[in-house]
Amino acid sequence: MIVVPGPASLELGERVAKGLSARIVEGVKPRVVPVEHRVFPDGESYLRFSDVVDEEVVIVQTTSPPTDTHLLQLFLMVNTAKDLGARRVVAVIPYLAYVRQDKRFLSGEAVSIDVIIRLIEAARADALITCDTHSDISSRFKIPIKNLQVLPLVAKHLRDQGFEGAFSLSPDKKAINLATMGSEVLGGGYDALEKTRDRRTGEVQTIEKALPVRGKDVVIFDDMISTGGTMALAVEVAKKSGARRVAAACIHPLLVGNAAERILAAGAERIVGTDTVPGPYSIVSVAPLIVKAL
Ligand code: R5P
Repeated sequence: MIVVPGPASLELGERVAKGLSARIVEGVKPRVVPVEHRVFPDGESYLRFSDVVDEEVVIVQTTSPPTDTHLLQLFLMVNTAKDLGARRVVAVIPYLAYVRQDKRFLSGEAVSIDVIIRLIEAARADALITCDTHSDISSRFKIPIKNLQVLPLVAKHLRDQGFEGAFSLSPDKKAINLATMGSEVLGGGYDALEKTRDRRTGEVQTIEKALPVRGKDVVIFDDMISTGGTMALAVEVAKKSGARRVAAACIHPLLVGNAAERILAAGAERIVGTDTVPGPYSIVSVAPLIVKAL
């Protein structure tokens, strides 16, 4: 087996390769094959494998910002591995971009995730592994897909960091399953806020609500933090209800621009995310789950 840590997931790719090596007691250990890449001055991506043969190839490449560049690198890697004779290509895309655009919210909009799925399949990926997609899109794929559930890992990390018994909160009713999963690990109860988003401007509004958290710790669980607007509003609601410490937790810490500063300024004591998106708040690694899935 060959593991290719893509340009967007160099560290996670190495962690996955290490985990696979440790798991193999007998037989051939996986090889890490680096990939040469650069972006030309006009924005085009260049990519070259040093060595791919007739083996199973696991490509680890997230699609966080710069999203479209990372997606194109993914397509180039998958397609080239197949061209070079890879027996099977597994695309590990820890954060799969464009899932939020899974329908036409306004008439005439592109259903972007369907286009991304067609492109992954056109590049000839044989299977896909991803983590906690925003909505369930598995039935749209023709190839097998594993959507790993990562949130319990994040909740366990927070429990080990002294948040046992904390109240679990999701910033949106649609994501209440995240709060229930968090609460299964932390105890301490759960609830969800109600959020509305202006489909044209993207502006978020959260309906204020009194929560039973006076003097208690609160963990807010969301699948992703992008601009931080949703999370910052939820932190404010928890603080107004008298929460002691508030932790902002997510699977995919995109944290675009000043998102982290916004959330901390709203009163969060910490931000915890996973390495589906690399960065300063990617504290929990999803590598063990990916290794298990492989
Ligand atoms: C949307 O429904 C997601 O679950 C997140 O709440 C959202 O994408 C976060 O975006 P932002 O950080 O820009 O508010």
